[in-house]
Amino acid sequence: MSWALALLGGYLLGSIPFGIVITRALGLGDLRQIGSGNIGATNVLRTGNKRAALATLVLDSGKGAAAVLIALWLAGSGAAAVAGLGAFAGHLYPVWLRFRGGKGVATYLGILLAMAPLAGIGACLTWLATAAIGRISSLSALVAAALAPLYVWFAGSPLVETLATAVMAVLIFWRHRDNIGRLRAGTEPRIGRGRQT
Ligand code: G3P
Repeated sequence: MSWALALLGGYLLGSIPFGIVITRALGLGDLRQIGSGNIGATNVLRTGNKRAALATLVLDSGKGAAAVLIALWLAGSGAAAVAGLGAFAGHLYPVWLRFRGGKGVATYLGILLAMAPLAGIGACLTWLATAAIGRISSLSALVAAALAPLYVWFAGSPLVETLATAVMAVLIFWRHRDNIGRLRAGTEPRIGRGRQT
């Protein structure tokens, strides 16, 4: 498997917008018109349906993990990192949504768990600990994204994996620029406040 094929395969897998698919299938409304308008699990939770949010989290993470594991199995760790990058890009810029996708946090965590499991667990625990303290999803994502490249590096992973993790972390910060503005203004909503239209 060439790296180009890994990138394309990962991109197509990452392009599946599970948040949109699940909320439409359950008749929960147009996710783009709810809360932040994002297609991720945090915003699905704002529909008030916790199971739909959990399913979105699992499937958005799962597509990132699947892309990495398939490429790892077929072509080794370099291709796996490239497939992970492809899946991440697919979630952020999905062909099915005219390239207007999500912020990539669940997909990032799934990619990390598959690519560098100890670092992935560290990133998930960082998200959970920050969420337990601050109860703000975007803040948890930013802290976990900032620390994850260090975790991957300290885990002794190949350089290509550390670089891929750092590139994704930068993109997560870019995609959260509205959230960062709200965090600075003190207006970012907290997790679990029910349906927000
Ligand atoms: O995973 C996305 C999260 O970090 C922020 O989501 O909907 O609050 O912008 P949202």
